[in-house]
Parts: sequence; C-alpha cells; structure tokens
Amino acid sequence: MSIAPVELLRFDTDAELVQRFIERLCKQLSQAIAERGEAYLVVSGGRTPIKLFSELSQQPLDWARVTITLADERWVAADDAASNECLVRMHLLQHRAAAAKFVSLLDSTVGAAASARSAESKLAQLPTFDVVILGLGEDGHTASLFPCSAELETGLTTKTAALVVTPTTAPHQRISMSLRRLLDSRQIYFHLSGAAKADVLARALKDTNHLAMPVRAVLQQTQVPVSVLLAG
Ligand code: 6PG
Repeated sequence: MSIAPVELLRFDTDAELVQRFIERLCKQLSQAIAERGEAYLVVSGGRTPIKLFSELSQQPLDWARVTITLADERWVAADDAASNECLVRMHLLQHRAAAAKFVSLLDSTVGAAASARSAESKLAQLPTFDVVILGLGEDGHTASLFPCSAELETGLTTKTAALVVTPTTAPHQRISMSLRRLLDSRQIYFHLSGAAKADVLARALKDTNHLAMPVRAVLQQTQVPVSVLLAG
C-alpha cells in the first residue's frame, strides 16, 4: 500500500485549525470504536495542544472506549507543571473525556531507566495506535527524539517501544516513544502553530538528514499517513 506524501493543511487561525482537527479526530476515533470496539490516541506535551485538548474533552465521543497515552514524558513528578501527564490531566481528561483510560509513561517510584522499562511493557500491551498527534520543536525534535541527545540514533532505530533521552538543549530527562512505536499507528498528525514552526517545517522537508532534524524520520517514511495542520 503506497502512502500519499505528507498532507499539509494551512489555517489562518488556531481556532479554525482546532475546529477542523476536532472534526477529523472525532471521525477517526469513532470509526476505530465502531470497527474495533476501542480507540487508541497518542498525544504530545508542550504549549500548542492546550486549546485542542480543552475542545476535544467536550466532544460527545464514547470516551470509556478510548485509551490515551503520551508520545513522550519529562522525568518530573506527575503533578509537576512541567509534566506532560499533568497537562493531559488538566486539559484533556476533563468533562466528557474524563471517562477515557490514560496510560502513563511515568513511574516516579523507580529511576528513569526502570520507568522506561515499565513504559515499554505498558506500550507493548497496546495495539496499533489509531491516531498519533505530534508537535515539533524549533530544533527539529518531535516526541523527545532530540537532535542534541546521545540517544537519538537508538530512538530512530531501536525495536523497543520506549527509551530514556537526556537532551542537552532542553530541560529534564525524558522518556520517549521510539520511532518504531510511533509508526505503529494508522494516522499521524503534526499540530503546529506560528511562523517559526512553518520555517522549521520548511527546513525539515528540504533535506533527508534525520539525525540533524529527527522529525524528518516521521515526515519521510512510507508506513503511516502523515498530515500537518499549521496555523498562522
Ligand atoms: C514535549 C513535547 C515536545 C513538543 C515540542 C513542541 O514534551 O516537550 O512532547 O515534543 O511537542 O517541544 O512544543 P510546543 O508546542 O510547546 O512548541
């Protein structure tokens, strides 16, 4: 099955993007529930998804049949403001979406390496994801696959589902899904906002060096359809 090149959808405003994105997400998650009885959604942290999370949390989906997890997590306590889990609990697992199941990547009772192993076994129990939503850092990182990290090549090639990443240009040790686990999905979205992200995307699409800009490994694969939603 040949995968279409990256679909790029541009919007004038974040509000227009979120509205269209919500329509798509609800359709794909409902379809997954109708076809397989359950839906699996992967989300990312950062600032960009907050409005999307709030809107999505109010949608009339059969949330009890939806499982949500994270593409990556910062090695901080789950109630820390820098925690992606905290962000998801505060903005997405609210209202109707409070009924969804959440799979944490974090086990703060053990060290980062042991936590990555427990994340590994949790992710191994989840099937192919229906939708993966990724962000993009200005250095070309996505999830926590950072160009500055010594673990990047492992993250792009490993057969394991999760790994510990220690970026040198961003705060906090991280647990990130590997490229292989991110690509074990039916649809990948990049949710981007602003001119700076548009520039990063343009640079990413110009070259094929995945180690320089890890997002290229997701944009330039032929396994999963990728759609980029870009506002502004
Ligand atoms: C994280 C994210 C990361 C994020 C980008 C973009 O934990 O930081 O998962 O990959 O998506 O850094 O972040 P912004 O949306 O804040 O620009």
